[in-house]
Amino acid sequence: MNILVIGSGGREHAIIWKLKQSNNIEKIFCIPGNGGISKIAECIDRNILDFKYISEFVIKNKIDITIVGPELPLSEGIVDYFKEKNLNIFGPDKKSSQLESSKIFAKRFMSKYNIPTASFEVFDNYEEAKKYLQSPISNLQSFVIKADGLASGKGVFVCDSKKDAEDAVKKVLVDKMFGTAGEKIIIEEKLTGQEASLMALCDGKTILPLIPSQDHKRIFDDDKGPNTGGMGAYAPARILDESTAKKIIFDNFLRGIKEESLNFKGVIYAGIMLTDKGISVLEFNVRFGDPETQVVFPLLKTDLAELVSAVVDGKLNNYKIDWGKGSCISVVLSAGGYPGKYEKGKEIFGLDSIDDAIVFHAGTKFENGGYLTSGGRVLSVSAVDSTLKGAISKVYKNVEKINFEGMHFRRDIAAKGLFHE
Ligand code: AMP
Ligand code: GLY
Repeated sequence: MNILVIGSGGREHAIIWKLKQSNNIEKIFCIPGNGGISKIAECIDRNILDFKYISEFVIKNKIDITIVGPELPLSEGIVDYFKEKNLNIFGPDKKSSQLESSKIFAKRFMSKYNIPTASFEVFDNYEEAKKYLQSPISNLQSFVIKADGLASGKGVFVCDSKKDAEDAVKKVLVDKMFGTAGEKIIIEEKLTGQEASLMALCDGKTILPLIPSQDHKRIFDDDKGPNTGGMGAYAPARILDESTAKKIIFDNFLRGIKEESLNFKGVIYAGIMLTDKGISVLEFNVRFGDPETQVVFPLLKTDLAELVSAVVDGKLNNYKIDWGKGSCISVVLSAGGYPGKYEKGKEIFGLDSIDDAIVFHAGTKFENGGYLTSGGRVLSVSAVDSTLKGAISKVYKNVEKINFEGMHFRRDIAAKGLFHE
């Protein structure tokens, strides 16, 4: 089987790393890929929204399945484009992708199908939103303001006063800081609790959850500083009870996509908050998480190429997923200044001395025999051990061997998980 993976992050490196272990694979291509991926797959430097080029490339290279990593090509309709041309693709179509690309669509879907989520109201008018914030609504003081559309993870404001909430509403609806992605907003009740991520494979009829994981979204230790794409993760996250989560999230999700006639063949990712009242879904993503994939796949024993084919062919009901014992942790090494402004082109040292860990590349390129930084999140170092404590120690020993100018990483990844060992 020949496979094309679309994307350029640590997530795509982990997908390809796992596919390489399959006996069924002949060739793997990646558009556009990165420095590390170029060592294990053929990378083609093209725009991931150039569907015409990509589909022609797929036909020319006899690619059996295309796997879409990031959300943007999905929300722009790559799956619909491929379907018209009768090409196999792993990912939901444009309409279903609204579960990630429109927070309003996702919240209404959750409410309609009894998936627990924070209470919310929708607004497209600043004055009305302000009036709502000033009204004595359930005595709330804390709110979360969310731009409806995709905003590269920056469209959510967690506000601890009405004044902050009003400022956030103004930034989105009046100053239009997210352009059309912020034409509508959600004002949501602020919840408190630990967060966890649960991804599941779905072929439209059957849903198979992967193991739960926990991301660390803030840039600094102790969950301080601004939100990032994710600074590290570990799995399994024992804080989440999978069978309860499956019942109240994914069984209802499956009922919803059937009733709404949504064509969903791919991954559904639930961002969950564990509140004192139980599980609440903060968001859906319609793709693998990053860095969650870098901790889930090193523990996956089942052949990934087979699972992906089963999703595309609608045969997931024939499968059970097997997992290795132990824990996996991944620490993201980021460029100095990320998630704000950062520099690129810094030489990366120490990659040859890695021992008993996996380095997944994200923002790197290979040039003149060496690796240079080319993005905000540069590398994800993953390690597996029979205990979480052992995995933490293994990963940090390896992280210390890597170096590039400005390198930053969190030193407390997975510390939360030690309470549950
Ligand atoms: P989202 O993109 O909806 O997952 O939001 C990004 C982040 O904002 C989440 O990972 C949470 O940390 C935070 N967040 C989102 N919704 C809420 C909420 N209702 N209450 C508290 N925090 C939230
Ligand atoms: N790690 C969060 C995400 O993939 O959206």
